[in-house]
Amino acid sequence: MKRFVVLSFTVLTLAFLGIQLVPVERKNPPVETEVPASEEVRSILRRACYDCHSNETRWPWYSRIAPVSWLVARDVHEGREELNFSTWNRLSTKKQVEALHESWETVEEGEMPPWYYLPPHPDARLSARDRTALRDWSRSYASREKQRSADD
Ligand code: HEC
Repeated sequence: MKRFVVLSFTVLTLAFLGIQLVPVERKNPPVETEVPASEEVRSILRRACYDCHSNETRWPWYSRIAPVSWLVARDVHEGREELNFSTWNRLSTKKQVEALHESWETVEEGEMPPWYYLPPHPDARLSARDRTALRDWSRSYASREKQRSADD
């Protein structure tokens, strides 16, 4: 029995060490632009969204340890793919308006930031005031752009 325990422990330890060798991409590509928003909105996005939706990801210590590192890297990769505030300039105005509308919807429905992100990042929890600021930003952006295209 004792032998079995020692053997299992050794196998698990080796497996754990082995998976650390799998390369994980943890890059922050250059930031191309800042989102056009007030300081207040920017700071909300920064604390609640930027780790997965920008090129300014803060990689925590546990993002260096497999298998957690795989999950974190996947979130960042998929998050940036869906919406990247650091490359906001690449979106057409129409896409920007859509992206903000969608962002507000995910916040309103409590989908974003993801629930599992909150315990290790308590400052990402959005207060009623934070939510209102995001909603107003999304709406004013849409109406300003509508106005602008009507002027053209
Ligand atoms: C822990 C990483 C993480 C954080 C933090 C995060 N997101 Fe996401 N987000 C994702 C991932 C991964 C996806 C793509 C998969 C999915 O939809 O769940 C996504 C998808 C989205 C989408 C696309 C629509 C959708 O539901 O598929 C929007 C919009 C979005 N996020 C907005 C936000 C906003 C706004 C914040 C901050 C309030 C935020 N996210 C915070 C990881 C994150």
